[in-house]
Amino acid sequence: MVTHIKSLKYTINTGDTVLKELTIFLKKNKYSNYFILCDENTLQHCLPLVITNCTPLVNAHIIEIESGETNKTIEIVINCWHTLLENNADKNALLINLGGGVISDLGGFTASTYKRGIDFINIPTTLLAMADASVGGKTGFDFGGLKNSIGTITQPKAVFIYPAFLNTLSQRHINNGLAEVFKIALINNKVFWDYLKTNTKNYLQLITKSVALKNKVVLKDPTDKGVRKALNFGHTIGHAIESLYLNTKNELLHGEAIVIGMILESHIALQKKLVTKTEFVEIITVLYSNFELKKHLSFTSNQLLQLIKNDKKNSNSKLKFALVNKIGGCKVDAEVTLDQIQKAITYFKTNY
Ligand SMILES: NC(=O)c1ccc[n+]([C@@H]2O[C@H](COP(=O)([O-])OP(=O)(O)OC[C@H]3O[C@@H](n4cnc5c(N)ncnc54)[C@H](O)[C@@H]3O)[C@@H](O)[C@H]2O)c1
Repeated sequence: MVTHIKSLKYTINTGDTVLKELTIFLKKNKYSNYFILCDENTLQHCLPLVITNCTPLVNAHIIEIESGETNKTIEIVINCWHTLLENNADKNALLINLGGGVISDLGGFTASTYKRGIDFINIPTTLLAMADASVGGKTGFDFGGLKNSIGTITQPKAVFIYPAFLNTLSQRHINNGLAEVFKIALINNKVFWDYLKTNTKNYLQLITKSVALKNKVVLKDPTDKGVRKALNFGHTIGHAIESLYLNTKNELLHGEAIVIGMILESHIALQKKLVTKTEFVEIITVLYSNFELKKHLSFTSNQLLQLIKNDKKNSNSKLKFALVNKIGGCKVDAEVTLDQIQKAITYFKTNY
């Protein structure tokens, strides 16, 4: 069975027969050329299934990049542009992003800028990409030591979510994806949050619910100027922590950084009296019991504050955060002081 969710001029298709729908989509759209972007893991675990079940792709050009956040760079984008050019990709070519959030962010950016924009579709293969990154149209790469500092908002032409790809994903990467599932529940839907307290194994259900909730927010604010900023809860501090660990041996995954970001930002919400002490305790209890925080995290307040000041979400040199304001709700553009961030860091360091 396949679920169809309508987004901005495209459909998000989820289910175990979704590769058939992909074939129908390709036959209908008559692209000149197909390019499939993958990394070594999705090349091994996912590409054979896609090609076997989707005959139009038998002769697709494969663009393989090295896996991991450290490859979400302009250099890799340039390599992809070269490959497209060398293989005569014209305006009517299609780029298929087969992978996790790194692939969909990079591939989306490559496609949205190549020849002023060619079509792309996302076939997410990690829980994080299925539940979150493949939807909403944010594309980009890390630059100047900052996460996602360059990018576009360009919608894919379709998303095909095939949950069976999760069978080869490690438990660490499953948890990485669950972080974004908990986030969308916490800022948007108390019923889903309560459900997650005891149910985190039915991935198809979690993906469908998360995508539906995210999509509703995106539809209200496609360009990220208003309510969509709520999706950034946990990300201002989370991105700063993730940036600090980029290119270090102590690898920290996106979702792992976001969980820490959610804990610290919930503490700021408590300081600002946006949530009660009871709500704060519930939030951190649920997060601590579902996520094993990476040990030996060492960052100084100064390092974090420096990166936070550079965050895209700040405007007019004021620090602006999206902060949870009840379980299932969020306030955007909440002004935050350096002192409040400092207190949250101190709290975190003495309590984990
Ligand atoms: N655009 C958005 O809206 C959005 C939202 C959230 C996160 N993101 C971005 O997503 C990225 C993180 O995504 P991610 O966690 O999916 O990372 P990822 O793409 O690096 O994938 C994680 C790892 O899993 C491997 N992998 C992928 N699919 C697999 C499979 N089916 N079986 C086995 N291994 C597999 C990959 O090769 C990689 O090593 C970050 O860069 C983050 O900024 C973007």
